[in-house]
Amino acid sequence: MPAPSDGWLYGGYRTDTINLCITCDRDRAGPVVIGRTHDHRMDLYSVVCAVQNLWLAARSEGLGVGWVSIFRPEDIKRVLSLPENIVPVAYLCIGRVSHFHDRPELETAGWRSRLPLEQLIHMNGWGQPPRRRRPAGGGRPGLPEQGRSVGSPPLRKPAT
Ligand SMILES: Cc1cc2nc3c(=O)[nH]c(=O)nc-3n(C[C@H](O)[C@H](O)[C@H](O)COP(=O)(O)O)c2cc1C
Repeated sequence: MPAPSDGWLYGGYRTDTINLCITCDRDRAGPVVIGRTHDHRMDLYSVVCAVQNLWLAARSEGLGVGWVSIFRPEDIKRVLSLPENIVPVAYLCIGRVSHFHDRPELETAGWRSRLPLEQLIHMNGWGQPPRRRRPAGGGRPGLPEQGRSVGSPPLRKPAT
């Protein structure tokens, strides 16, 4: 995300910025809640899904979002007077930016490179590479060739 001042995110927002702390009430709705009863982390995961939805919605409105995570959670809890059971999950800066980059800025800056999709997807078991999708006309599901769309193939009129 462009930063008119020092080139990094914290100073990167122009005007109308809002800071939004998204929290999780770990006791909401009592002890028996779908998902959380079995695995206590699920409420946190749900909150992260909500953050992602907010992020996508903001971007579709032309707003930039930055997740600021380098702080001590207990500091945020103190400043915002959060009760003990309220967990600060995400601290977001949302605002207008001068432009969006074509590639992630940290990738351009050389922090990390994009990993090939094949390294990140394991099919039917860890360490098993995905099969490539066969050319049109059939084949079993697998990864499309790099650069090709993942969507459904176009509908074809069946042969008569
Ligand atoms: C979980 C998470 C934590 C992050 N923490 C920080 C952070 O502490 N500082 C920072 O500069 N960027 C952080 N980022 C990255 C920025 O939020 C993100 O790269 C930037 O807003 C660009 O957004 P864009 O991908 O929509 O262009 C974090 C991202 C995620 C997903």
